[in-house]
Amino acid sequence: MNIIDGKQVSAAVKERIRAEIERDGLDIGLAVIIVGNDPASRVYVNNKKKACEVCSIKSYEYALPEDTTQEQLLELIDTLNASPNVNGILCQLPLPKHLDEKAVIEAISPLKDVDAFNAVNVGRIMIGDYAFLPCTPAGVMELIHSTGTEVSGKECVVIGRSNIVGKPMAMLLLHENGTVTVCHSRTKDLAEVCRRADILVSAVGKAGFVTADMVKDGAVVIDVGMNRNADGKLCGDVDFDEVAPKCSYITPVPGGVGPMTIAMLMQNTLKAKRLQIQDEQ
Ligand code: GUN
Repeated sequence: MNIIDGKQVSAAVKERIRAEIERDGLDIGLAVIIVGNDPASRVYVNNKKKACEVCSIKSYEYALPEDTTQEQLLELIDTLNASPNVNGILCQLPLPKHLDEKAVIEAISPLKDVDAFNAVNVGRIMIGDYAFLPCTPAGVMELIHSTGTEVSGKECVVIGRSNIVGKPMAMLLLHENGTVTVCHSRTKDLAEVCRRADILVSAVGKAGFVTADMVKDGAVVIDVGMNRNADGKLCGDVDFDEVAPKCSYITPVPGGVGPMTIAMLMQNTLKAKRLQIQDEQ
């Protein structure tokens, strides 16, 4: 069994991005919007800003109060869409309940949508012709590649069908010729489906959800979950102690997928800058 070191893989990606930005003398800005006081969102936003520093990307934080109106938020996005200093725009989700998340996502210019959440970018991912990678799924692919595992022809099972992770994850595995099954809360005999997987990706959001009886011997197990266990400790979806001995490779939480999502965000921000330079010419 091998533990995949997401911090190490992500550090290498960020270093490559930094070197490229400095080599080409690019001036790149990422706007990060956070609304309200969700503590988990605050941690994610701080980590994204730190990654910007490492990569020589300027970050501009817009921390808005909980009672921000939809109009105020959309106005800010309009301003950022038009700003030449801002190459990427990220609005940290979830938003407070009174705000319309879908409308906010669609308001971000597709050229600056570094999360690739906008319908235009999602559609491009679907047809396999895209500029912006979906950050978390792309980070998972990098981790799988780091093990030397070939996806082509493998049984790949994704647990979870969210727009942010499950669905685009299935697409990226499919683009690499995996045989992909997407499981969800209505799946019959989930354990039996998961046991077929050579590559098992869990994005459920429940601590201890994936148990040893759901994992084939020698499988690659990628844990996208970010949960707190009964002791308040950060943990994934996978019962790590029980599952790890059965795997060829497994990601830990923390230190697995999380750092990769952020590295992919940096990569998209660089890509956004390059697209905008092209667009101007
Ligand atoms: N909330 C949870 N994951 C993400 C993400 O990747 N991007 C944004 N903007 N919000 C999130």
